[in-house]
Amino acid sequence: MEPVYASNAAAREEPFLIRKARLEDLPRIIAINRATLPENYPEWFWRDHLEKWGDAFFVAEVEGRIVGYVMSRVEYGAPTFTKGLIVKKGHIVSIAVLEGYRRRGIGTALMKAALKALKERYGCKEVYLEVRVSNEPAIRLYEKLGFKKVRVIPMYYLDGEDAYLMAREL
Ligand code: ACO
Ligand code: ZN
Repeated sequence: MEPVYASNAAAREEPFLIRKARLEDLPRIIAINRATLPENYPEWFWRDHLEKWGDAFFVAEVEGRIVGYVMSRVEYGAPTFTKGLIVKKGHIVSIAVLEGYRRRGIGTALMKAALKALKERYGCKEVYLEVRVSNEPAIRLYEKLGFKKVRVIPMYYLDGEDAYLMAREL
C-alpha cells in the first residue's frame, strides 16, 4: 500500500496526557517554569501547593516527558460575580507549556482539568488569575475558556508591567 502522508501539522503531533502532578515531578516542573516565565518561585512554594491543593495541580506528558503544568490554590475572598461577603475562589498561580508543544490544545486541557478540580473537588465558586497585559497568547486562551478581564493591576510585575486580573464563575 502507498504511504499516506499527513498534510496538516496536527496529524504529526504525538498525543498528550494530562495527569495529577507528583512530588517527583517538581524538578521538571520548576525547570519548565524557569525556561518559559520570568515569574519563578522557590522549591518550597511548589511543594506547598502540591501538598495543600495537589488535586488541582496537573502536568501534561508527551511520550512520557512532562511538557507543561498548571498549579492552583484555593483562597477565600470578596466575590467578583455574586453578592455576599466571602466566597471560595480558585487561583491559577502558574501555567506553562514548553515552546515546541504549544498550539495543540495542551494549555486548554490543563486549564480545563484545573477548573474542574477547583469546582468539584474544592468547591470553588469562581476562579481568577493575573496575566501580563502584553501576554496575548495566554489572554486569548483564558478568554476562550470564559474568563473576563476584571481590572488592571498597575505595576504588578517586578519589571513594572501591569497585569490583568481575569476571572470567571465556576
Ligand atoms: N497567539 C494567539 N493566540 C494563541 C496563542 C498565540 N501564540 N497561543 C494560544 N492562543 C490561544 C488560541 O486561541 C488557542 O486556540 P487555537 O490554537 O485553536 O487558535 C488557544 O489560546 C488555546 O491554545 P492551546 O494550544 O490550548 O494553548 P498552549 O498549549 O499553546 O498554551 C500557554 C498556552 C500556556 C499560554 C503557552 O503559550 C505558554 O506556556 N506560554 C508561556 C508561559 C505563559 O505565558 N503562561 C501564562 C502566564 S499567566 C499565568 O500563569 C496565570
Ligand atoms: Zn496569581
